[in-house]
Amino acid sequence: ATIHDQKLHRGEGGELHQFAEDGHPVLTTAQGGPVADDQNSLHIGAPGPALIDDFHFREKIFHFDHERIPERVVHARGYGAHGFFETYKSLADYTRADVFQRPGEKTPVFVRFSTVAGSKGSFDLARDVRGFAVKMYTKEGNWDLVGNNIPVFFIQDAIKFPDVIHSVKPEPDRAFPQAQSAHDNFWDFISLTPESMHMIMWVMSDRAIPRSFRFMEGFGVHTFRFVNAKDQSTFVKFHWKPKLGLQSVAWNEAVKINGADPDFHRRDLWQAIQSGNFPEWELCVQLFDQGFADTFDFDVLDPTKIIPEESLPVQPIGRLVLDRMPDNFFAETEQVAFMTQNVPPGIDFSDDPLLQGRNFSYLDTQLKRLGGPNFTHLPINAPKCPFHTFQQDGHMAMRNPVGRVNYQPNSWGDGPRESPQKGFRHFASEEQGPKVRSRPESFADHYSQARQFYISQTPPEQRHIAMALTFELSKVENPVIRERMVSHLINIDETLATTVAEKLGLQSLPKPAQAAIPTRQDLEPSPALSIVKR
Ligand code: HEM
Repeated sequence: ATIHDQKLHRGEGGELHQFAEDGHPVLTTAQGGPVADDQNSLHIGAPGPALIDDFHFREKIFHFDHERIPERVVHARGYGAHGFFETYKSLADYTRADVFQRPGEKTPVFVRFSTVAGSKGSFDLARDVRGFAVKMYTKEGNWDLVGNNIPVFFIQDAIKFPDVIHSVKPEPDRAFPQAQSAHDNFWDFISLTPESMHMIMWVMSDRAIPRSFRFMEGFGVHTFRFVNAKDQSTFVKFHWKPKLGLQSVAWNEAVKINGADPDFHRRDLWQAIQSGNFPEWELCVQLFDQGFADTFDFDVLDPTKIIPEESLPVQPIGRLVLDRMPDNFFAETEQVAFMTQNVPPGIDFSDDPLLQGRNFSYLDTQLKRLGGPNFTHLPINAPKCPFHTFQQDGHMAMRNPVGRVNYQPNSWGDGPRESPQKGFRHFASEEQGPKVRSRPESFADHYSQARQFYISQTPPEQRHIAMALTFELSKVENPVIRERMVSHLINIDETLATTVAEKLGLQSLPKPAQAAIPTRQDLEPSPALSIVKR
């Protein structure tokens, strides 16, 4: 037996391989047939026409031809690791989720970090949001906390997601630029979407170019619910705090690193974990009720808002340690399927319209990306607790029901049954109102928290924001868009707006933007724009 025995597949009965003349296991086809010559295809004469008899050649090329699957429509570039979550204390008063009942309990975890806008082969240090997706394999099924390293989002309603993503991805006619460099489509959309201003402040800040995944925070973004055994609900916001603290790089460093080592972040995580330097985060929560939510001018269901930590401190409830790299990047990191809809009993959704839309999108996209309904049969996606469904068949079915029974109720006394006590009970919130397409007034303030974020930054950090905005907007060709962006900045901070306007060469400050979505008329280039230096 050699090292190959551990790395290669054994026979059904656990038997060892046949060995080739040089002592290595014999190379086989995918059907297990031993291969005599993997260097030369079968043909008549040398050279000569190839023969269809050559099943080894055909299988090898066929499989290679089909190696690619669609990259994720967003967050295509990512890197993952295994680890565990350890609960600090029982949260039974707030949630019946099994994962939060027993101090010291460890739950296996897989985490995937990602950029949002770049393609799978893009570089690591783009100015971009970072995904921070955590799959906890709890004893009551998988819990996916599919978050980002920024606590707010660009849009308030999931129906705008295709628009914001189309605008940030390469433009459809020219197929450039790659995400991280400014372009008219993106800034056009942003400047027409005042609700994005808070997020834009974060994205233009140093937060958007992390030093490594190990120095990043993570956020669940939305307000979720904890629900306890008495079916009482508490609102909860989730935060991941890195034990190493927060660190970013400056833009000029990022540009150099991207050129020298586009894999900088993945190499950092690989090297840290392989050398036993396991990165760690604390999971923290902000817990509150409706009465507390009502004390704010903004709506806690609006994903463009944070709940300031000064108003409601975050409390640590457990820790996440990443201690093992996947054995195979494709099988695990590429095929892992995160879905916001994956919640165990005791964790539930709020009415945040972005979250509600996400709960549809993720299941839908996995069907396409992973090629059918059985992606939960892949080891990385399968629960690690016992599970029993009556689902069957479909492409690549590995876990069909065993025996006669594939439905219930049945008379055979066989198979699983639902459990009102143990099963997931949706929180019975009281809902009422007209069926409308609209947003509440409580979602209307788009500038206060953008301003608070900007003011909370140190002077060098504020300078970086101004430099980033100037750099990005200076690449926008259409002066209308530049000016429209400055008109929003005035509503955030006048000094910031003036600095950016001067650096862009605007001769005077435009009028402050109206928070409302502009009308078609507003979008016509105004004569005042002729004074803008190009
Ligand atoms: C992927 C976070 C909003 C649709 C992801 C991933 C993360 C993430 C972390 C990567 C998962 C992975 O590593 O495999 C977020 C956050 C959002 C948000 C924090 C806002 C708070 C949305 C919205 C939609 C959406 C509004 C659609 C309505 C998708 C899709 C993927 C994705 C389709 C690709 C999933 C895959 O192919 O595996 N998102 N997202 N996201 N997100 Fe979101």
